[in-house]
Amino acid sequence: MSKKKLKIARRRSKIHGNGVFATAPIRKGEHIVEYLGQFLTHAEADEKYKEGTDSGHTFLFTLNEHWIVNANVRGNVARWINTGCEPNAEAFIHSEDKKKPDPKKDRVLIEAKRSIKPGEEIIYDYGFNFDVKYTPKLLRTWACKCGSPKCTGTMLKGKKVKEVMKAHPNWQKGK
Ligand SMILES: C[S@@+](CC[C@H](N)C(=O)[O-])C[C@H]1O[C@@H](n2cnc3c(N)ncnc32)[C@H](O)[C@@H]1O
Ligand SMILES: [Zn+2]
Repeated sequence: MSKKKLKIARRRSKIHGNGVFATAPIRKGEHIVEYLGQFLTHAEADEKYKEGTDSGHTFLFTLNEHWIVNANVRGNVARWINTGCEPNAEAFIHSEDKKKPDPKKDRVLIEAKRSIKPGEEIIYDYGFNFDVKYTPKLLRTWACKCGSPKCTGTMLKGKKVKEVMKAHPNWQKGK
């Protein structure tokens, strides 16, 4: 990937803890940064981070069926990027050779979904979809504080989220 100077920096975020902000204009489609870290198998990640979905905080990124990128170890600035319900960036998995797939060579790249001005926080949708039973408590543990008018209230995504919200309209209040 390009060795150009990154147009981002870590700063305190209103959303959560540290975030990543543009330090120069970023064009739509531009490569922002690669999400780096140690590669762990799913089993290794489960063992190392036993608190799993109870924690509400993670630096793990699911790369593919074989690998998780663990940005706690050898992570770069990308590990500070927050999620949100109106993202200006997106993370996608880059496979080096589509004809000879090698899961270990896959990489997580973060790209601008639209043009981003200096000072704007970089946000991509984590698309969290855990393989556990979904409950109101789980949605609250992973509460989204992105502040967007479109905020769903949770960082979790998918059908199971909608089902919990429908069955528990007061899920945010602990009812
Ligand atoms: C990869 S880290 C991002 C950096 C994080 N802000 C920090 O300072 O450690 C991911 C964690 O940040 C928090 N986070 C990210 N986006 C969030 C959001 N929209 N609302 C609430 N917490 C968020 C969650 O705890 C999430 O598991
Ligand atoms: Zn949100």
